[in-house]
Formats: sequence, C-alpha cells, structure tokens
Amino acid sequence: MTASISDALLDWYDRSARALPWRLPPGEPLPNDPAWPYRVWLSEVMLQQTTVAAVKPYFETFTRRWPTVEALAAAGEDEVMAAWAGLGYYSRARNLVKCAREVAARGGFPDTEEELRALPGLGAYTAAAIAAIAFGRRAVVVDANVERVAARLFAIAEPLPGARKAIRQRAEAITPDARAGDFAQAMMDLGSQVCTTKAPRCLLCPLSAQCEGRAQGIAESLPVKPPKKAKPERRGTAFWIERVNGAGAEVWLVTRPGRGMLGGMRALPDDGWSARADGSGEAPVTGVAEELGAVRHTFTHAHLTLSVRRIEGEPGGEGEWWPVERLDEAGLPTLYVKAARLALARED
Ligand code: ADE
Repeated sequence: MTASISDALLDWYDRSARALPWRLPPGEPLPNDPAWPYRVWLSEVMLQQTTVAAVKPYFETFTRRWPTVEALAAAGEDEVMAAWAGLGYYSRARNLVKCAREVAARGGFPDTEEELRALPGLGAYTAAAIAAIAFGRRAVVVDANVERVAARLFAIAEPLPGARKAIRQRAEAITPDARAGDFAQAMMDLGSQVCTTKAPRCLLCPLSAQCEGRAQGIAESLPVKPPKKAKPERRGTAFWIERVNGAGAEVWLVTRPGRGMLGGMRALPDDGWSARADGSGEAPVTGVAEELGAVRHTFTHAHLTLSVRRIEGEPGGEGEWWPVERLDEAGLPTLYVKAARLALARED
C-alpha cells in the first residue's frame, strides 16, 4: 500500500530535516517554555522574503541580546532597527517591536491562528506557521515553497495568483492532524531542497510516486507564474559630509522619517530620491560637491542608481555626527553601506 502523502513526507523529514537554530529535531515534543513561541515568531518574521542563510546570524544575535519577548519589548525601537540593518524590509522591524510590546503586555503569545493573525506584522502565512510550529495546531501553512510543491504534486496548471485557491485546498487536504509543525516545515524543506525553483530533483523526492506533475511530465513548468513586470529605474543622490575633530573623522548621518522606504533607519542625507516617482531632485545641502561615483541597489519595486557626492560644508537640518571608525555600529541599511564603502574607498 502506498503511504499517505503526509506519512511519506514526515518519514522523509525524520531522515532529512535541516537542523536550524529555531527548530526542534523532528518528532520532539514542544517545549513548555515561553521562549519557544518567541523564537518561532522571531524566526518566521525574519524569514519573510529572506533566505535561511541571511537570517541565521541575525537570529543568533537577536536571541542572544533579547532572549525573551519581554526583553525585546523593553528595547528601544532605534536599537532594534539598528540591529535589523542589512536584513531589509524594515517595516518588519518596526512591527516587531510593536508586536513584542503587545505580546509582553498580554502576558505571552496567543496560541490560536486567529489571535496570532491580529498581532502587528502577522499575515495569514506567519500566523499559520506559528500556530503549527510553536503550538502544534493543525494549520494550513502556504509559503512560496509549499505553493511550488503543491502545484507540482497535484499538477495545478492554472497560472498564479489564480491557482492559489486550488493550491490551498489541496494543501489543506494533505495536512495531518498530528505533527503539524513538522509537516509544515517538511513541506518547506522539500520545496527548498528537493522540489526547487530551478529543477525538481524527483529522484530524491519522497513524493515522486504520488506526483501528478511528474507523471504528466510538467512538474518543472509549475507553478505557472504571471509575466514579471519590469522594475522601474530610479535615480538619486546621497551626500557624504565629513568633518575631522579631536575624536577623528566623523560623518553626518540622518534618521529617515518613520514611514515609507527604509523608514526609521539611519542613512546618509540625500536629495529626497525616495519621495519622488522619477528620483530626480536637488540637494538640500549646498557647498562644493565632488562626485564620488554611484552604487546600484534593487528594492522590491525598483532598481536604484544612487550617486554619491562628497560635500564640503555644514549640513543643515536634523542629524548627528557619527565617528567613521564606528560606522559599522550605525545600523545602516545595505544601500547606505554600499555608498559609505564607495566614499571610504575614495579616501584611501
Ligand atoms: N521559511 C519560513 N519558515 C521556515 C522554517 N520554519 N524553516 C525553514 N524555512 C522557512
């Protein structure tokens, strides 16, 4: 008799699960420790749109520095934003602090999908993942990996996003009552290690015998994606303003406004590129300018070419002088790390 899909998948997970810092070994009972749902929540927020490899060092740093949700709730938003620097999608960090404070105030994480969904920054996917992984509740956890596995397994040839309804129905039908967290993570591991975007590795797949996509020879083409929209090209300018005093060289940094792109993050002052659709604009700083070059950065919705100019002169507006020697502690997002590297390379 053929094992059910969930049995076959869980057997494979028992042998092949990735050991990850936020994970229990397969089959292990859930710890009765309030730090457990905290770690699952933190990892799931970090893993939104972000790879496991990129998340690992941040997860280690955060859990060492803030081992409980209460500790994170007591942290300053600016500290958390700075610690998040480099991970991207910075609204997640703002919501993280909000959510930690709400959870600490209510005495811990709620354990149902519905209540989790009501917390700041938790969408349908994250709420389901936490309900399953942290609390062992049966929940249908569908991320991009699971979407790919289900579309292939059931030969769902309708293009995304229309296919999502059928994918969810099928995922719901194979979700077992027991081992909900292991099942969800087994689907994720299968999608990222075996049933990959590049090419399904059907020889290694525990579900190959049951896979309709494989039987029809169409697995690799699924899920059918809608045509990609070209990302617009934007341009902007950032300013490197340096002074030297007794403490050594210092650079002028600003804190970006709370909402919007890179909101709340420290940054080099700029010409307001992010507020304009076409990225054109004038410098808010006057003085002799020297063009240092440009850096490229890709956001979710656009490519940006950011020119970097050194300005001799006094900065205007709000900001702070930051020691160049300790610039790696400023919590600059990757875009400004690239710009600062360019400016510093020019000085050498
Ligand atoms: N992606 C999102 N959540 C994950 C998890 N718990 N394990 C592996 N990859 C993931």
